[in-house]
Amino acid sequence: MSAISGRSICVFRDLASLSRAAAGRFLDVVRECVPARGRFAVALSGGSTPRTFYSLLASDPYRKEVDWTKVHVFWADERCVPPDATESNYRLVFETLLSAVPVPVENIHRVRGEASPDDAARLYEEDLRAFFRGGQVPVFDLAVLGAGDDGHTASLFPGSEALRESSRLAVPVQPAAGRPGRVTLTLPVLNNAAHVLVLVSGPSKASVVQEIFEAGNAKHLPAGLVRPVNGTLEWLLDRDAASQVRSGPSGGSGA
Ligand code: 6PG
Repeated sequence: MSAISGRSICVFRDLASLSRAAAGRFLDVVRECVPARGRFAVALSGGSTPRTFYSLLASDPYRKEVDWTKVHVFWADERCVPPDATESNYRLVFETLLSAVPVPVENIHRVRGEASPDDAARLYEEDLRAFFRGGQVPVFDLAVLGAGDDGHTASLFPGSEALRESSRLAVPVQPAAGRPGRVTLTLPVLNNAAHVLVLVSGPSKASVVQEIFEAGNAKHLPAGLVRPVNGTLEWLLDRDAASQVRSGPSGGSGA
C-alpha cells in the first residue's frame, strides 16, 4: 500500500487477488459500522470489474461474516433499462450477490431504471433523502466505484454537466446518443462517503490511471475528482491497470 497524490493505492497480481482484498475491506467496514450504527449503507457500481468481488461476498467465508439484515444496498449509478435487462446494474448485483444473501427486500434501494432518466433520478433522490434523514448530504459507509477507460466513474463522464452538480444527490445523464440514459450519484455524495474503494483492472485502464495519479491535472477525469472530504479513499488496482504508474506503488498483500 502506498500513497500517490494523496490517494492510497494497492496493486495486486490479478483481478482475483484484488477482489479478495476488496471483500476483506467490505467486511472491515461492516464490522466497524453495524455495532456503531446498527446498519451498513453501501453504494455499488456496475461494469465488469466488481463482478468477482460481488460473487466472493456471496460465498463463504465472506457470506457468513455479514449480518445481511443490517445491510442497505444502493447503486452509484444505473442504466435506464428494466431491472431484468442485461445492461442493468441492479441485475448484475442481484445475480452475483443479492440472490445469494438474505438482504431484506426493503433494504434494496435500486434505481427505477425502467422509468425515464428524469423520473428515475427524482425517485432515487427521494429514496436517498428518506433513508439518510437529517443530513444535507448522505454519508455512505462505503462506496464501491470503478473507472472507465475515459476516466469516468459511476456515470459521471468527462465534461458532463453532472460534474458541476452541487445540491442534487442523483441526476440523470445521457452518456452518448443512442445509448440508454443513466442515473448517477453526484460528486458531493461520493465525496461524503466514509470509505471509498475504486476497483480498476486491465491494461485498457493503464493510461487513465497514470494520468489520474501522475499528471497533476486530472481535474478533467471524473474518477480523479473522487476525494472523500472526511473519508478514506483506496484504489485497488491489478498490475495491468497500474503498469504505467511510474511512482512505483509497492505491491498489495496479494501482489
Ligand atoms: C457502470 C459503472 C461504471 C463502471 C466503469 C468501469 O455502470 O458501467 O458504474 O462507472 O464502474 O465503466 O467499468 P468496468 O469495470 O467494466 O471496466
